[in-house]
Amino acid sequence: METVGVIGAGQMGAGIAQVSAQAGYRVLLSDVSRAQAEKGKAGIAKALDRLVAKEKIAADARDAALALIEPVESTDAMGEAALVIEAATEREAIKRAIFESVGRVLGPDAILASNTSSIPITRLAQATPDPARFVGVHFFNPVPVMGLIELIRGLATADATVARVEAYAQALGKRVVRANDAPGFIVNRVLMPMLNEACFALGEGVATIPDIDAACQLGLNHPMGPLTLADFIGLDTCLEITRVLFEGTGDPKFRPAPLLVKYVEAGWYGRKTKRGFYDYSGAEPVPTR
Ligand code: 3HC
Repeated sequence: METVGVIGAGQMGAGIAQVSAQAGYRVLLSDVSRAQAEKGKAGIAKALDRLVAKEKIAADARDAALALIEPVESTDAMGEAALVIEAATEREAIKRAIFESVGRVLGPDAILASNTSSIPITRLAQATPDPARFVGVHFFNPVPVMGLIELIRGLATADATVARVEAYAQALGKRVVRANDAPGFIVNRVLMPMLNEACFALGEGVATIPDIDAACQLGLNHPMGPLTLADFIGLDTCLEITRVLFEGTGDPKFRPAPLLVKYVEAGWYGRKTKRGFYDYSGAEPVPTR
């Protein structure tokens, strides 16, 4: 499996392209246009420069990785890829449209994978040319730092597909866990209720934003407090995944916190909109409540 196609050159797609190239795979990177894919590659170049500056990698390793990444005009170029990973926006209609277009050029043995964090793999597989060669491969943000990949098999995913993608994930140096196609898989099933509960606690006035975060960061030894992490992931994404858990299980324990819903309705999505539980417009994040 030498050529990997990555569809989506945003934060997740660029991270996947970067770690794939660093592991020696040739990468075809696409987005809505070649210009967007080029922009993704420019971000990867900066991330690799930082690794060189910190003496984590040598300059020639950076150059070799960058040389392996080829921004392409569209998914039409993905015919040469043995594995195509979709890392586009977390909307089912967008992903289905991508699978239909890439499906027209996908090689007869090539595997199609989705980095979806919450949409059922079995359902998405229906939009692909061969559900036996479709699998979930869930990376974590920031991709170069996080050591885990969740592999999710749909009902029709073949054993050979799982084995080939597992070999790729291991070549990236990530620990692979296998999860069944249940809402939220493993990580989000456990994480989102915690982030949602932090929103309930804030909404009920249990404590302030910095105290909720400090309590979990220092009291649980987490790298970030839950409200900081929710802002980092994106409050819209957290709400979307929480709704998938709620609707997918029918269990009221997953109901979204009213404050989380309000923040998303206000357009306060976290870091990406410079306003979530913290205000990111200055040099340092400032708690908003
Ligand atoms: N890209 C690449 N590297 C990054 C990075 C990024 N965006 N952000 C930080 N790093 C690197 C830094 O360069 C540094 O590397 P070094 O130790 O080799 O010098 C290292 O990570 C630590 O960074 P910092 O010292 O700047 O800051 P922190 O120690 O606070 O670490 C963090 C930052 C790695 C983001 C850490 O706070 C963390 O692990 N937070 C939790 C992240 C998390 O839980 N992610 C999963 C989210 S859930 C998800 O993705 C699933 C989805 O479906 C919702």
